[in-house]
Amino acid sequence: MKNCAVILAGGEGTRMHSEKPKVMAELLFKPMIDHVFDAAKKAGVSDICVVTGYKAEILEAHLEGRAHTVRQTERLGTGHAVMQAADYIRQNDFENILILNGDAPFIDSETISEALVYHTNRGFIQTVISAKIDEPYGYGRIVRDFNGDFCAIVEEASADKETKKINEINSGAMWFKKDALLYLLSKIKNDNSKKEYYLTDTVKIAVDEKMSVGAYTAKNSDAVLGANTRVQLNGLNERLRRKILEEKMLQGVSIPITDGVIIDGSAVIGSDTVILPGTIIKEGCIIGKNCIIGPNTVLYKTKVGNGSALNQVQAEEASVGDNCNLGPFVHLRPNTNIKNSVHCGNFVEVKNSTVDSHTSVSHLTYVGDSDVGKGVNFGCGVVTVNFNGKEKNRCTIGDDAFIGCNTNLIAPVKIGDRAYTAAGSTITDEVPDDALAIARSRQTVKEGWVIKKKPYREKKY
Ligand code: UD1
Ligand code: CA
Repeated sequence: MKNCAVILAGGEGTRMHSEKPKVMAELLFKPMIDHVFDAAKKAGVSDICVVTGYKAEILEAHLEGRAHTVRQTERLGTGHAVMQAADYIRQNDFENILILNGDAPFIDSETISEALVYHTNRGFIQTVISAKIDEPYGYGRIVRDFNGDFCAIVEEASADKETKKINEINSGAMWFKKDALLYLLSKIKNDNSKKEYYLTDTVKIAVDEKMSVGAYTAKNSDAVLGANTRVQLNGLNERLRRKILEEKMLQGVSIPITDGVIIDGSAVIGSDTVILPGTIIKEGCIIGKNCIIGPNTVLYKTKVGNGSALNQVQAEEASVGDNCNLGPFVHLRPNTNIKNSVHCGNFVEVKNSTVDSHTSVSHLTYVGDSDVGKGVNFGCGVVTVNFNGKEKNRCTIGDDAFIGCNTNLIAPVKIGDRAYTAAGSTITDEVPDDALAIARSRQTVKEGWVIKKKPYREKKY
């Protein structure tokens, strides 16, 4: 039978001072809710229901097609939030229900899976994922009886002095048997100082009714960390950033100085590749071995082969082959395919184009919507003029062509293999293989013109 996760995400997160729901605050470029969502999916949970509330439309749009959503119109506590999902849970054929806090993005799939094994093997109707932490302030405390058996969760606001000293806390994540959850939800009351329906009250109710509950202590105590303010969010970012960098280093990636280096957890990077300061590798990047990436390089959904150097490069949805030398100041825009041993130098932009091997585009050049052959040389300042104000057209440049400095190639146009264009040409017609095209007016020289016209004013020196 299937299991379902209910992610609580209705809170406003007042202390974030944001126009967006708190769970949309980002941890390494990904909203907190997506970290939680991905952990549940990775743990094999098939169905996900998200409880939205504050700015529900934003979350609903963000989750469209990925999760079922239910709205909580008033924020009356975590128990009340889960009640909003009760009909959905009742109507579906689920065995266990996993509750997760949308604002606790460090929960991981191993912790979720191990807790489920513990829950199932011991036949518990409820298994709370707990953690032992140094500073338990603000968290619900795990209370155990004199036998060490878990018997209640006491929230900070309701805790006495002794209870406040307990450093085993509720992560907010918990597994329930479906029917037990539906039953316990119907029993929760809001008779506390905050007049909220606390989900955590389910433990005491279950114990009082002799139902068996357990607390599974997470091996990874970071799994409970959450952020209420942007200062705490910065702390989480730093922690996750460092964790990923250490993983990569242990796999053979060199990061001699970690300043400003941010790598998304999904990145695959080959051994002996060096990542230099100020480099941000966002989601969906695959980088080969022996590369030098950075300094100050930003990659998104980009593939790089082996032995390539990218210095001050920005690339999105692009691919770069082996032994390329790119930069400084190169921008590769979506659908760019740079093959092997290509050089792109200062202030070169490439978009929606293929650049075949051994081609050199050294300075101040725009290559857009073009198919460039092998061994082509671009002089300084070449522009593929791909947009006529209405539509985009392509340029085709043959193998070993030589494009002179400051050539404009007015698309659609084709330059043949080994063909040359003279510097300063504006090329509008096809240039055949092995031809030279000159498209500029011939120079005229007017002897003595300056003496006759005296175009300058008085001498300045
Ligand atoms: C909760 C737990 C606490 C635990 C902590 C772990 C309760 C009563 N307390 O406290 O034991 O140690 O998480 O982080 O469960 N939410 C709604 N609707 C509401 C209230 C909350 O959707 O009416 C959502 C929030 O958006 C958030 C999650 O539930 O994602 C947790 O709520 P929050 O108010 O942050 O609970 P904590 O005080 O952190
Ligand atoms: Ca919280």
